[in-house]
Amino acid sequence: MEENQLNPDVLAVTPSALRQFDHEISADPQIVKLTLGEPDFNVPEHIQIAAIRSIKANQSHYPYYWGIQTLREAASTYYRDKFGYRYSADQIICTVGATEGLSATFKALFHAGDAVLIPTPAYPVYQALAILNHVTPILVDTTETGCVLTPQQVTAAIKSHLEVTIKGVVITDPSNPTGVVYTEQQLADLVPTLRENQLWIISDEIYGELTYGVAHYSLSRWLPDPTIIINGLSKSHAMTGWRIGFVFGPSNVIGQIAKVHQFMVTTPTSIVQYAAVEALTNGQNDAAVMRKVYQKRRDYLKKALTELNMTFVAPMGAFYIFAKIPTAYHQDSFAFARQLARDYHVGVMPGTPFGDPTAIRISYASSDENLRALVAALASLNRAKRVAER
Ligand SMILES: Cc1ncc(COP(=O)(O)O)c(C=O)c1O
Repeated sequence: MEENQLNPDVLAVTPSALRQFDHEISADPQIVKLTLGEPDFNVPEHIQIAAIRSIKANQSHYPYYWGIQTLREAASTYYRDKFGYRYSADQIICTVGATEGLSATFKALFHAGDAVLIPTPAYPVYQALAILNHVTPILVDTTETGCVLTPQQVTAAIKSHLEVTIKGVVITDPSNPTGVVYTEQQLADLVPTLRENQLWIISDEIYGELTYGVAHYSLSRWLPDPTIIINGLSKSHAMTGWRIGFVFGPSNVIGQIAKVHQFMVTTPTSIVQYAAVEALTNGQNDAAVMRKVYQKRRDYLKKALTELNMTFVAPMGAFYIFAKIPTAYHQDSFAFARQLARDYHVGVMPGTPFGDPTAIRISYASSDENLRALVAALASLNRAKRVAER
């Protein structure tokens, strides 16, 4: 059989450029990586113990496909207390990380031929999921508005794409890759336009606990009916490899998303679900410890990059800075990131896969020593470029 006999939507998607670039530079044994969105903290010990306890108790059977009742109840309480979510246990599904939650949600909400608005710079997974589902991704560049989607941009995008039916919008708040956090007012300003245009809202709030000196708000507060929230423990509890996430949504929609989820994965691993109950019932302060460290690193990087005349939108959350490559370098993001890796053994993510070829994404979920290595490399590169210009 020929490859071209496969699903063209699958053929149209390339493997994650982020993972590929990370893999490419990992061949260098000296490489210092500030590439992936991977917390450098261990899973809190009380959660590890809960997982071991679960294994010993032989909690090894198929859980109910929505997730075990105690976990959905714990998620209902935890996120209500943290962010004011108003979802009962029967409006929550436990997924294999936020990624599977996003995937099931795209499949359930959109029909082939629909279109979805994706404000850029954006996490590239949304675009891939749109294409896989034969949905047209309409990229809305928000760089002129501080990487925050405005109602005017939504209206303009709809008017200039009358050939398709725009069914939804993705909001990532706090944002990967920019670290931007929407203010309460910025979200409230979007509400009338989103409501008027009857858009589904996929609200990716996976970094909700990682904000620095500002609060996280959820669009679900204003628009509970069309909003589907994606969240999980990958970032807040440093549990990326454990693969546990949550989808929150109105009753009439969540059951449909649950069906898709059931036929893709059945349910997350039983042991992880029991450990996640511990995270959500006794781990309310786990993220606070990490937040403090991330904030210090962010402050260090902000200052150091500013001293190097690099510009970026104010990073108020997540653990990224999305910095512009100085125009004098005349390099796109891949060329710049490759040079940094090759000549200085420091890895950062090119901005192109996020929608901006003039920027790089620096992850500060990495040690202080690694951050210092980055700053030294950027300073050295800066000097080398200045000498070359003379
Ligand atoms: C914005 C955003 N959403 C979702 C995810 C995926 O999270 P998970 O590991 O829970 O699948 C990530 C991971 O980097 C992310 O940055």
